[in-house]
Amino acid sequence: MAAPVLVTGGTGTLGRLVVPGLLAAGCEVRVLSRRRRELGEGIEVVTGDLATGDGIDAAVAGARVVVHCAGSSKGDELKARHLVGAATRAGARHLVFISVVGADRVPQTGRLDRAMFGYFGSKLAAEQVVAGSGLPWTTLRATQFHDLVYLTVSQLARLPVAPVPAGIRFQPVDAGEVAERLVELALGPPSGLVPDLGGPRASTMADLLRAYLGAAHRRRPILPVHVPGRAARALRAGANLAPDRAVGRRTWEEFLADRMSSLADQSASPA
Ligand SMILES: NC(=O)c1ccc[n+]([C@@H]2O[C@H](COP(=O)([O-])OP(=O)(O)OC[C@H]3O[C@@H](n4cnc5c(N)ncnc54)[C@H](OP(=O)(O)O)[C@@H]3O)[C@@H](O)[C@H]2O)c1
Repeated sequence: MAAPVLVTGGTGTLGRLVVPGLLAAGCEVRVLSRRRRELGEGIEVVTGDLATGDGIDAAVAGARVVVHCAGSSKGDELKARHLVGAATRAGARHLVFISVVGADRVPQTGRLDRAMFGYFGSKLAAEQVVAGSGLPWTTLRATQFHDLVYLTVSQLARLPVAPVPAGIRFQPVDAGEVAERLVELALGPPSGLVPDLGGPRASTMADLLRAYLGAAHRRRPILPVHVPGRAARALRAGANLAPDRAVGRRTWEEFLADRMSSLADQSASPA
């Protein structure tokens, strides 16, 4: 039997798009999840928790390639440590990791930086765990996924006045395109830190929100707010952007149009 590819975070926004790509390439796929669940034919699910390390040895056993898509806003360094320990014990041959553009450029000097933008520091620490693991590795940094920006703007639009960070731009990218690239990397040789993957265009949160409001036929006053701290200053200078790697194809407007039409289909279909 072929060695399975383990996908951590295979139930998340990104990982659930990586899984079919690997299956289509003929891989056996195993998914790590904290919850017992069925994911469909040909997908083995192993339960475990990267935050505690429980179940991770069993999840990695026999896997030659591990695609590490599990993550959250905090604690990704510890998750990476548990995964790397188990993958080393299991003799894995390739660890593929998804990180974020700006991980190495958003300073974490003060409490405010860490409280508001600690995610970048946690991704950098996780990258360092992967790179220092002794395992052959590949890390891809991507900009924010459309889905995350959608979640953010739809929550902001619920407020009577929508506050947005003044002067910070985002370069949203399609999670499906990131998944395609991760599959390609998982099928190829370990490559270290590969070129970033950014969306086609950078826009302020105010513009992203305006496009959302337009697509949703809604109105909201928008209030740009200055965010203090060194991390925010770095973000205003574009630390989270990849202007030379704006290789993503699907635009925010295309994503929004598709999302609105699938929401309309759902509300039109009988319950
Ligand atoms: N979202 C973005 O804009 C963006 C941009 C660049 C990079 N990234 C990175 O891409 C990765 C995936 O992001 P996403 O947006 O797809 O995340 P997501 O939708 O929030 O999914 C998170 C995934 O991580 C798993 N997970 C979380 N904590 C875990 C734990 N303690 N043990 C095991 N599994 C755990 C969850 O699995 P279960 O709930 O099934 O356990 C879930 O599948 C993350 O590493 C993130 O930092 C994201």
